Amino acid sequence: MTTLVNGKRGNRLDPSDRGLQFGDGVFETLRLEAGRPVLWERHWARLCRGLEGLGIPQPREQDCLDDLREVAGSSRALAKLIVTRGPGPRGYAIPERVQPTRIVMGGAALAIPDEGHILRLGMCSTRTGRSPLPGCKHLNRLENVLARREWGADWDEGLMLDGFGNVSCATQSNVFILEGGCLLTPSVDDFGVAGTRRDWMLEHASRAGLVVLEAGLSPERVRAAEAIFLSNSRIGLRRALLIGQRGRVAGGRQASAALAMVSELGAELNALA
Ligand SMILES: Cc1ncc(COP(=O)(O)O)c(C=O)c1O
Repeated sequence: MTTLVNGKRGNRLDPSDRGLQFGDGVFETLRLEAGRPVLWERHWARLCRGLEGLGIPQPREQDCLDDLREVAGSSRALAKLIVTRGPGPRGYAIPERVQPTRIVMGGAALAIPDEGHILRLGMCSTRTGRSPLPGCKHLNRLENVLARREWGADWDEGLMLDGFGNVSCATQSNVFILEGGCLLTPSVDDFGVAGTRRDWMLEHASRAGLVVLEAGLSPERVRAAEAIFLSNSRIGLRRALLIGQRGRVAGGRQASAALAMVSELGAELNALA
């Protein structure tokens, strides 16, 4: 795996880096096609929003793109871009002069589940904490780490609840359900990450005429859904079923039409290069 730190090959990092000390930074996981990040504009926009929220200066966009191209390795790969506030003394206070660190790791060939494979979903007991920066993909991800530890041998993903007991996300993806022919997803204003694929789906589904709503999703509502979907940069959009849940055929004509539309949009999203 090739790693670049501030554009230079090698994985040497200053131990006083605030990303390491405090999780003071943001990251993106990106799918690369022929060295080019898919849906880059959305990743870049989320990265910049997070950096702005934290008050960390932005790196040059072209430097990030050059780094990603350099680490790409195979034609379809997964890469990670991290930007931290850079080195600093002990203590939370932000130093007067900061020198952000840009880290790009790549080269992992992309392992994508088969289109036909329905992801098996468990239920994690670790809850998502309220985010201090709505939707931000910051480096403080201990809840996701703890939730990931809970995965059973037959799980492909695990749902996580928010502080109110509603489903907020899965360990490393956003959640959608179809209910009454409408596409519903939890809001990311307080909990969870504003996924690039979630954004894409919301935009394209409403443009296609589907009713798309942000809604509080109790576990019972998810269990009773006509269909469940997960999204992230690696898998795109995939069908999922809770473990023990019967495969449901959407009830009624409206629901079947909605399922067909979402599946079509998912195929379009998954084919993006
Ligand atoms: C907790 C969480 N939610 C959602 C997502 C989906 O984000 P994206 O669609 O940008 O990959 C991720 C991706 O890693 C994630 O870790």
